[in-house]
Amino acid sequence: MNRKDMLGLRDVSREEITEILNTAERFRNVSERQIKKVPTLRGRTVVTFFMENSTRTRMSFDLAAKRLSADTLGFSASSSSTKKGETLMDTARNIDAMKPDAIIIRHSAAGAPHMLAKAFPWSVLNAGDGINEHPSQALLDMLTMRDHLGTLEGKTVAIVGDVYHSRVARSNIFGLTTMGAKVVVAGPGTMCPPSMTHLGVEVRHSIDEVVEDADVVMMLRIQRERLQPGMMSTVNEYSRFYGLDLDRLNKARPDVLVMHPGPINRGVEMSPAVADGKQSVILEQVTNGVAVRMALLYLLLGGEPIGGDANAV
Ligand code: NCD
Repeated sequence: MNRKDMLGLRDVSREEITEILNTAERFRNVSERQIKKVPTLRGRTVVTFFMENSTRTRMSFDLAAKRLSADTLGFSASSSSTKKGETLMDTARNIDAMKPDAIIIRHSAAGAPHMLAKAFPWSVLNAGDGINEHPSQALLDMLTMRDHLGTLEGKTVAIVGDVYHSRVARSNIFGLTTMGAKVVVAGPGTMCPPSMTHLGVEVRHSIDEVVEDADVVMMLRIQRERLQPGMMSTVNEYSRFYGLDLDRLNKARPDVLVMHPGPINRGVEMSPAVADGKQSVILEQVTNGVAVRMALLYLLLGGEPIGGDANAV
């Protein structure tokens, strides 16, 4: 892969996605060892710059960089000088002056990572920009699907809930359609507008309709922080029409995979019995996240070559 940045999956080819997933597979066993570290990015500096809350993504990128032996340093909105009025560009100029090799950024403004990628020489990895994209999440989702389904080609993935405001959904739609999967989305009209068909997906408004034929059902959290007033009625009503419970899941294929990027609002988009049930691969997604982020850092920063056998890394 010959890229400086990973900003989104909109323009990433099938060959590149396959290379990232294959590289992640090779890195996966590093996390199974007693000494969970390889020297691949020794001496490199990776900065995590999170201007929106995060548990999984931030920890996972941080661990990925550490398991590759990079030096990591992180800061967040609450602890940085943005609280004192510093602009994003000024903060970035100051980070630049400390000579980093990569910055992993999460920001509420769509396009913030793209702006930094254009202005600075270091690699920028988008860890979620507003409602736009969250490419590492979609890649770990695709790796999890590929583990279970063998291939993504010809598979049907249903994405349910607040699809319009979800950067996870948007990156999955780009990635999955590139890989030859069919994506069907369902949710209330304000969260799944008919215009989404422009992204190459089918839009439905009933969860039951999409769950029946799906190989994968991906449930999403309502992005309350991004909703305009009047975009949803009540949580109870939403849950009754769009929540996944065992009754609904029992109408799906017996081997359907249930996914969620987290954080889950139990009892809203998904019942606890489904979240913890036998079809749920939600924690596998989290495990795969570390391997995918190791692969991304390795491929973008051009680490030491790894052999076919990951034990030799
Ligand atoms: C998602 C995000 O931040 O977009 N979470 C994540 O990265 N795992 C989804 C969400 O917050 O609902």
